[in-house]
Amino acid sequence: MIDIHSHILPSVDDGSKSMEESLGILRQLQGEGFNTILATPHVMEGTDYLQPQEILTATESVRQRAIEAGITVEVFPGAENYIFPEMAKWARDGKLMTLGNTGTYILVELPMMEIPRYTDQVFFELQVEGLTPVLAHPERYQGLFREPQRITEWAKRGILFQIDFRSLSGRYGPQPKRLAERMISSGLIHFVGSDAHRISRSESTNKEALQTLRQMLGEERFEEVTIKNPRSILEGKVIQCSSDYMLNDVDIKKKKRSLWSIIGKIMSK
Ligand SMILES: [Fe+2]
Repeated sequence: MIDIHSHILPSVDDGSKSMEESLGILRQLQGEGFNTILATPHVMEGTDYLQPQEILTATESVRQRAIEAGITVEVFPGAENYIFPEMAKWARDGKLMTLGNTGTYILVELPMMEIPRYTDQVFFELQVEGLTPVLAHPERYQGLFREPQRITEWAKRGILFQIDFRSLSGRYGPQPKRLAERMISSGLIHFVGSDAHRISRSESTNKEALQTLRQMLGEERFEEVTIKNPRSILEGKVIQCSSDYMLNDVDIKKKKRSLWSIIGKIMSK
């Protein structure tokens, strides 16, 4: 499997604090079934922003140290770019790292509380630059709990979604878990990421979350979001997606099921 979202570069953001910790995270992700990891440190607009060359250098040193430590996971560069109005211009000027450094897909992060008013415009401008925006963990944004229809609007315009598989374990609370489930049941996820910042204390929880995802998606779709689609990123290839999306409400289905189970129990008495 390929993890397209992690913070494994030492001392560049709020992720790993040392090379030892980076190698520990890699070992853990390998144990969970990942053989390829994209390093996606936070990049924020500002004079001291993390530049593509710094990301390339740090990724290369983690890659080398991983080989020396006998870790067989492959490491590629990337970035989690916090949205700002001038984003497309920065991308055009080569100031932002794309996923896998192939110049095709760009991982975009939104603020947790509100969806900025310029979001649609930035997505459009990135597309004009020939980049496909991949939205990092949409299920975790409070703005999307209030306006989930924005997800289908963006999907119809070609925005792709990376869910944080840990959301399925309830790690971030019930609302991200519920929205992740709705998106999965609606075919609205394209990639997975761990968003790993440190060595997790609950490896079994992560494995269970991946297992839940596998069950919800079915074998073929699971392979698509964990292997096929992210491989297209690394090869700089276009991913063909449906343009007719709807956001299902899994809650309704669950309620219906539980109603039938209650009726079944009454009938069996
Ligand atoms: Fe992240």
